[in-house]
Amino acid sequence: MQDKNIAGKMRAIRMHSRGGPENLVYEEADIPKISRGEVLIRVHAASITPTELSWNSSFTDRNKKERFPVIPSFEVSGTVSGISSEVKHLKVGDEVYGLLDFWRNGAAAEYVATDAAEITLKPSALDHISAASLPLSGLTAWQALFDHGHLKPGQAVLIHGAAGGVGSLAVQIAHWKGAEVIGTCSRGKEAIVRQLGANQIIDYGNARFEDVANGVDLVVDTVGGEVLNRSYQTVRRGGTVVTVADDIDEELACKYGAKGISFLVEPNKRELREIALLADSGKIRPVIQETFPLRDAKQAFISGIANHNTGKIVLSVTG
Ligand SMILES: NC(=O)c1ccc[n+]([C@@H]2O[C@H](COP(=O)([O-])OP(=O)(O)OC[C@H]3O[C@@H](n4cnc5c(N)ncnc54)[C@H](OP(=O)(O)O)[C@@H]3O)[C@@H](O)[C@H]2O)c1
Repeated sequence: MQDKNIAGKMRAIRMHSRGGPENLVYEEADIPKISRGEVLIRVHAASITPTELSWNSSFTDRNKKERFPVIPSFEVSGTVSGISSEVKHLKVGDEVYGLLDFWRNGAAAEYVATDAAEITLKPSALDHISAASLPLSGLTAWQALFDHGHLKPGQAVLIHGAAGGVGSLAVQIAHWKGAEVIGTCSRGKEAIVRQLGANQIIDYGNARFEDVANGVDLVVDTVGGEVLNRSYQTVRRGGTVVTVADDIDEELACKYGAKGISFLVEPNKRELREIALLADSGKIRPVIQETFPLRDAKQAFISGIANHNTGKIVLSVTG
């Protein structure tokens, strides 16, 4: 049963119609109710993905029915405040983090209700701001490298957007796995990408990556477009190109004897635990571009869309 003390109002960032950051408003909303198998989280921090306001799922349910007003931000770190009786692996007071369902309200609010199956204990060594920066980027990187890319120690992986939210985690996780990591980024970001564990860095403004990298086992693309389409040239025959930012041109992939995979990240509690263990042991570290107070979420999105980000943008909710 939901904790009785939690009923009432909360502050939240909401949108009442589709659009960009200009449609985000900071206002009062009802504290969400939990259903079977769910937890209510007191949000301490939430991360945004700059492109999320362009995703259809941000405004609809899984049946494509619009669901206004909507609350953005799908990554949360906070404290369990209410819990349904079916949930056995968590209790009120637990500090948790996770990736939320893209088709329902997000974490840019003081409270969020979510399926408990998507949530796990947060890395104990990290504060909530740092923990909130990990779930979407960490899971996307993990699933690209291992679930879809089947990366093995000693293999070579080319990571596009190596300084970005997803890329900065992909570089660190691939390095931890013992892969040879090549990262692409803009000028001035070489040092950070090297610190994250890349063996070789390509400033994409200065060199064509396909002239430098060849015969790699795997490409992880977070950019899409022509960057994705030029990537097939860099993999060995039988190698894999995984993208999270575009569709695969099957004909092109076939021409170079590569396997092309495009996927949407999925919540995964087991993988989140692995990511938490890596964070707790210092094998990976959060990379945060900037933190904004919840009320300034509009500015956070404007900044995220305009910039070439280095890591994640986080909303501080209780700070
Ligand atoms: N399918 C999924 O499940 C999934 C999950 C998460 C994210 N995504 C998508 O993945 C994309 C990246 O997300 P994100 O959160 O990582 O974004 P982000 O934090 O904005 O990072 C993007 C990075 O790409 C770099 N970049 C831009 N153009 C480049 C180029 N031509 N070559 C190499 N790097 C380039 C940018 O900085 P510099 O140019 O300064 O290096 C930036 O660091 C977005 O489209 C997002 O919607 C998809």
